[in-house]
Amino acid sequence: MELDSSTKLAKVREELIEHAKKHALYKNVLDTKGHIVFGRGSDSAKVLFIGEAPGFSENEQGKPFIGRSGKLLDEWVRELGLKTQDYGVMNVVPIIPLSIEKKIRPPTEEEIAYFLPYTTKMVEAINPEVIVLLGKSAARAFGKENMKVGETCDFLKTRMFFIYHPAYYLRNGAKGTSDLANLKKLLLEKK
Ligand code: URA
Repeated sequence: MELDSSTKLAKVREELIEHAKKHALYKNVLDTKGHIVFGRGSDSAKVLFIGEAPGFSENEQGKPFIGRSGKLLDEWVRELGLKTQDYGVMNVVPIIPLSIEKKIRPPTEEEIAYFLPYTTKMVEAINPEVIVLLGKSAARAFGKENMKVGETCDFLKTRMFFIYHPAYYLRNGAKGTSDLANLKKLLLEKK
C-alpha cells in the first residue's frame, strides 16, 4: 500500500534527526537551545518553496521562513493566489549555520551535500508539481546554479522555477513581485 505524504514525511524527519545529530552543525542547535527546522505548510503541497537554512527566528521557533524573509515570502504567496493547502516551505539545510563570531553565514557546499539525501526524500514525499528555488544555495543543491531569475526548467516530473532569495530583495529595498511573472503563468497552466 502506498503511504500518504504525511506518513512518509514523518518517517523521513525521524531519520533526518539522527543524520543531523551526527553533523558538526548540530552543536549550534545545542548551544542555542534551538531546533532542527523541517518544513511548514502542506505535506502534499503543489508548490514547494525551498530556501537556504534557518535564521535566528526560525532556529528559535522551529519553523522555516518566519522572520523578515518569511514575511516577504508570505507576500509572494498572496500575490500568487496560493491557499494554505497549496504550498509548503523548507530549506536545503535544516540547522542554523553560524560563524565563529556566532553570526549567520551561508551553508557550505559540504553542508548542503550532507543533507541532500534527506532534502530529496522530503521533496519525493511531498511530490509537488512545482518547486520554487529561493536563491543560489537551493539552486546549487539541485545542480541548477546556472538558472537565471524568473527561469523555469524540468526536474524529473516536476517544474522548477528560480528566483533570488527574499533576503536579496530586502537588502535592495525591493519586493521581487515582477520576478514572479513566469511562476504566475506556470501556476495558471497547472490549474
Ligand atoms: N532564510 C532561509 O533561507 N530560510 C529560512 O528558513 C529563513 C531565512
